[in-house]
Amino acid sequence: MTATSPLAAEAATPARISVQGVTKTYNLAGKEFFALDNVSLDVADNEFITVVGPSGCGKSTLMNVLAGLDKPTSGQAVVDGKVVSGPGPERGVIFQQYALFPWLTVRKNVEFGLKTAGLGAKERREKAEHFIEMVGLSQFADALPKMLSGGMKQRCAIARAYAVDPTILLMDEPFGALDALTRVKLQEQLLDTWSQEKRTVVFITHDVDEAVYLANRVVVMAARPGRIFDVIDVDLPYPRTEEMRLSPEFTALRNRVWHSVYHQNTRTAAGSTPSTLTA
Ligand SMILES: Nc1ncnc2c1ncn2[C@@H]1O[C@H](COP(=O)(O)OP(=O)(O)OP(=O)(O)O)[C@@H](O)[C@H]1O
Ligand SMILES: [Mg+2]
Repeated sequence: MTATSPLAAEAATPARISVQGVTKTYNLAGKEFFALDNVSLDVADNEFITVVGPSGCGKSTLMNVLAGLDKPTSGQAVVDGKVVSGPGPERGVIFQQYALFPWLTVRKNVEFGLKTAGLGAKERREKAEHFIEMVGLSQFADALPKMLSGGMKQRCAIARAYAVDPTILLMDEPFGALDALTRVKLQEQLLDTWSQEKRTVVFITHDVDEAVYLANRVVVMAARPGRIFDVIDVDLPYPRTEEMRLSPEFTALRNRVWHSVYHQNTRTAAGSTPSTLTA
């Protein structure tokens, strides 16, 4: 295991997000269970990180720590040089369970964060309209979440997160419930926004293809204990294109990530795999 001093890392490249030795344990039938075990990761400003790994390896736990919704048992998450102690307006979160307010319409859900941010009614309405259209829900702007399908709820949650314009996007399987076409469309929109307006993105997915297509780096996690198993640089240029998905370079990267995720048991013990990563 390579130990990297957080201070040394900071001096080299000031990380926008720095996860420093984060451990999260739960009590499971009287035994300590490591949802995350000493996870360290630096994400540079404007970097696009995707996180893949088997179910239960701690991806959402890591996201919740970054979002400030869950406290680590030890270690810390640092954003813009400050230890995360709660949610903040610079971090937009899209949850795995698209957490909409059930009593508010699509439009009101999307407007919600804008109201908190102090925008006037007209501006809220216009902004919400734009993002509702972007995710293809204009026809359902006045519908309540219970009238939406899973994929539509997910799109509403995406519109709500994008609308407040956060500079950090924390996305937990945001496109998981979408059909292939909508998924590709939203991947492209996300990359467009990211390249035009620059965001720092941490994006969890089960889809290896998606992980490679979007990212600067793919972080592969492993379970029991939840840890970073591998990190793979994606040296493909942006803009990423549909043709690129068919290229030998893309295929080689996808196979590498796939191998890392699905053949974790064939690798050597956790102690000899990288669990500390630096941008
Ligand atoms: N509140 C909790 N109490 C006890 N155990 C928990 C709690 N939250 C998470 N865990 C455990 O921590 C581990 C990691 O959970 P987490 O939700 O982070 O996994 P994940 O990688 O996001 O999985 P998935 O891909 O299925 O979403 C799991 O084994 C889970 O059972
Ligand atoms: Mg999860």
